[in-house]
Amino acid sequence: MSNDSIFKTFLVAFLLCVVCSILVCLAAIVRIDKEAYNKQLEIRKTVLFAGGYQQQIDDGGNIDELFTSNMELKLVDLATGEYTTAVDAATYDQKEAVDNPELSEKIPADLDVAGIGTRAKYAAIYLEKSGAVILPIRGAGMWGPMYGYIAIAADGTTVKGFTFYQHAETPGLGAEVDNPNWKKQWPDKQVYNSSGKLALKVVKKGKYNPNAADAVNTIDGIAGSTVTGSKVHGIIRYWFGENGYAPFLAKLKAERG
Ligand SMILES: Cc1cc2nc3c(=O)[nH]c(=O)nc-3n(C[C@H](O)[C@H](O)[C@H](O)COP(=O)(O)O)c2cc1C
Repeated sequence: MSNDSIFKTFLVAFLLCVVCSILVCLAAIVRIDKEAYNKQLEIRKTVLFAGGYQQQIDDGGNIDELFTSNMELKLVDLATGEYTTAVDAATYDQKEAVDNPELSEKIPADLDVAGIGTRAKYAAIYLEKSGAVILPIRGAGMWGPMYGYIAIAADGTTVKGFTFYQHAETPGLGAEVDNPNWKKQWPDKQVYNSSGKLALKVVKKGKYNPNAADAVNTIDGIAGSTVTGSKVHGIIRYWFGENGYAPFLAKLKAERG
């Protein structure tokens, strides 16, 4: 058959299309894998930051190694405060669960101080090898949802670290929640007071009194950002209340504190 035949022309064009399609698909798969890996790395970094490993990371520590040797993923049934294996922890996505009626529940408006509407039944938490727990938190900010992690020591009340990894607050204003100078207030604050009552709060900038009896439960707000400060306050009040981690932390304290 001549090289100029119509059949050969179509065959070459067809084969070229097939080869190009395969190359495009492979490139897309590699990109999706890389994006998924980067997303996972970012979460791991955030969890390590909240858990007090920032210095090791800044010193060049390998995030994956630090994470796998220090953190264990667990699911907590928020209603009972018990660990659960009702769903597979490795494939569970708490953000997606919020949109699944079987895995989530609506929050009555009067209890919804974080402005989240619905919460997943199970929380994907990380148990750090010292017995501390790194807990996901979320709530409405001034301009959109805020997602973060807060680390609590094995005593069930002492904050070890706090960080948001996603929010839409304004740079220079609410986005100062990311400022290390603001975040450094959090470690050693107490979520509950000596009577076991939820006491951690975020106050308007300037209202914090380091000599007050409740200074250990108080976070100073951000200048010019009272709205974001009160949103973070709401997030804390929801997640450490009875409908958040209070039952789980009470058990943690009883068992390990
Ligand atoms: C464009 C724009 C963006 C703002 N972004 C924020 C913000 O992200 N967080 C915040 O708390 N306040 C923000 N504010 C200011 C709030 O409207 C409000 O004035 C402030 O929270 C009050 O804080 P203050 O009592 O400390 O002054 C913004 C204001 C404007 C005009």
